[in-house]
Amino acid sequence: MSEQKERARAATPWEPYIDAALGFRNHWYPAFFSHELAEADVSDREGQPVSHARSVTMLGEDLLFRRLDGKVYCVKDQCLHKGVPLSKRLECYAAHSVTCWYHGFTYDIRDGNLTHIITDPTSPLIGKAALKTYPVEEQKGMVFVFIGDIDPPPLADDLQPGFLDPDLTLCPEGWSNIVEANWRLGAENGFDPAHTYMHRNSGLVRGFHVPTVLGDADLGDGHGLEVYEGDGPKGVKLTRGAGRPIWEAEVEPGVTIAARYMPDEPGILEGMIPEVTIWMPCGLRVDPFPTPDTVHFEWYVPVTEKTHRYFIAWGRKTRTEQEKKAFFDEVRYVWRDVVPGKFTNEDVFAREAMERFYGEENGWRRERLFGPDVVTTAWRKLCTRANRGIQPGNPN
Ligand code: FES
Repeated sequence: MSEQKERARAATPWEPYIDAALGFRNHWYPAFFSHELAEADVSDREGQPVSHARSVTMLGEDLLFRRLDGKVYCVKDQCLHKGVPLSKRLECYAAHSVTCWYHGFTYDIRDGNLTHIITDPTSPLIGKAALKTYPVEEQKGMVFVFIGDIDPPPLADDLQPGFLDPDLTLCPEGWSNIVEANWRLGAENGFDPAHTYMHRNSGLVRGFHVPTVLGDADLGDGHGLEVYEGDGPKGVKLTRGAGRPIWEAEVEPGVTIAARYMPDEPGILEGMIPEVTIWMPCGLRVDPFPTPDTVHFEWYVPVTEKTHRYFIAWGRKTRTEQEKKAFFDEVRYVWRDVVPGKFTNEDVFAREAMERFYGEENGWRRERLFGPDVVTTAWRKLCTRANRGIQPGNPN
């Protein structure tokens, strides 16, 4: 048997993680930013489609969100009659209802109940069927939804520590986009200590003198890692030392490639080395970044097996309204362009470049890992032990 075939057959210590192409069921996920869903609007009698609703695909499930009196509700975006997406042409004759544009099945968005059938008003089905509903929580300007079947645990159990701290202000205008790669490639890329090699010449690093260092932990023996598996959030921390560059290689006589470390130019982080942690089900925290008083949050939410929604949000402890406004302006006019445009665009490039290998070419069994990947495999093993369920391939 060829070496390649042998490796293809070999089981890994993280088999459930390999099965989680659509993520982990029974967890909370961010769906969108609060400002992206206004209070529910209503159709006219001709069925003019409404626009104040959001349809979102997450973990392969189609969801429909509406906001009533400030509270966000979510139902499955699929008519019980013949399965069409209600969002294809959203008719809502009351703020709390949604009517299927095809034959008029009408549902209460708050509990999913089938309340009317316009084309058969005395149907015995009325009152006896319901759309699936999803628990929703709104915190810090983001809407989170629980995808699963069990009583949801507290949202805080599935969030990066510190996110809900009362004194942390989250800028309500973060950034999100679809990336053409599986969500695991996003999570692993964000937490990969050696991927800073790719960033060493990025616009953010050059323009703001952000040092690209791996840290100086001895990763080989599993040192340099802390795994959190007790009550509350489950995650992995990469411990970092004094921040000296740990790579420098002479690739040809006289040609040395090294980390872009600038001890004489402390730059915008003033010489601080960010602490990077990753948390189940799919959230990253970098503290501080991109400035010494800012915390950077990311999420890699599964959409399909080949795509994920990439969220970035920034938080800062602010004491006055003036500080809050200055923070929001800084995010709006600087970081919302600079970080995705001059730094994390490279992460997106790398994730999409890996998709074919991992998605179609058995990459989960063919990859050849090296020393720094112990960080990635610690994450995989944690997910394998601590997930609350694997999202099935056809969740509908
Ligand atoms: Fe929705 Fe018929 S498919 S009412």
